Amino acid sequence: MRETEVVLRPVVAEDLPLLGGGDAPYDDFGPRAPRTEPYSPELREFGGLAVCDAAGLLLGSVSWIWQQWGPMPESRNPMIGIWLRPEARGRGAGTAAQRALVDLFFRHTTVNRVEACTDVENLAEQRALEKAGFTREGAVRGAQWRAGSFHDCYSYSILRADRTG
Ligand SMILES: CC(C)(COP(=O)(O)OP(=O)(O)OC[C@H]1O[C@@H](n2cnc3c(N)ncnc32)[C@H](O)[C@@H]1OP(=O)(O)O)[C@@H](O)C(=O)NCCC(=O)NCCS
Repeated sequence: MRETEVVLRPVVAEDLPLLGGGDAPYDDFGPRAPRTEPYSPELREFGGLAVCDAAGLLLGSVSWIWQQWGPMPESRNPMIGIWLRPEARGRGAGTAAQRALVDLFFRHTTVNRVEACTDVENLAEQRALEKAGFTREGAVRGAQWRAGSFHDCYSYSILRADRTG
């Protein structure tokens, strides 16, 4: 499939009503307080960017949560997530956006690893991650609370060495 060209940019207040989420089976996290502000640099554990097409049309957003594998600061890495507006799905934008986000992390930070996880049944996201260069590492059982129960996920990662050879 030919990938939609995407641009990542900061989220602005006008984007927020269009970045609702919660409409897809694997994004059903129940009622959440509506976001009233774009991601700000002060929110150190979370981040996000708007995903747009080449003409500037808002397609959705990518986000990340920082986590750490042990006490050393070098072991800190982002776990990324994505939500696309329903009309933007199935055109390669999910693959392109996650690849672009990984490029940003490897170019502008010193992280060695970018992670993602998705429901064991979310075939579209599994395929998008694999096309973006991620490797499936295994199943994490009962990891994600969603729609009233815990769900098994697959864990994915891409290392700096995977991207640079
Ligand atoms: C998951 C999501 C980000 C994928 O992005 P997308 O732009 O729709 O996906 P792409 O167009 O890049 O397609 C990725 C691949 O998955 C395949 N795919 C899409 N839907 C599929 C499905 N239901 N079953 C199997 N494969 C599927 C596509 O065919 C494509 O593979 P191909 O190029 O080999 O044909 C997007 O659909 C979305 O936002 N979904 C709702 C929210 C969500 O699930 N977020 C992820 C939570 S972890």
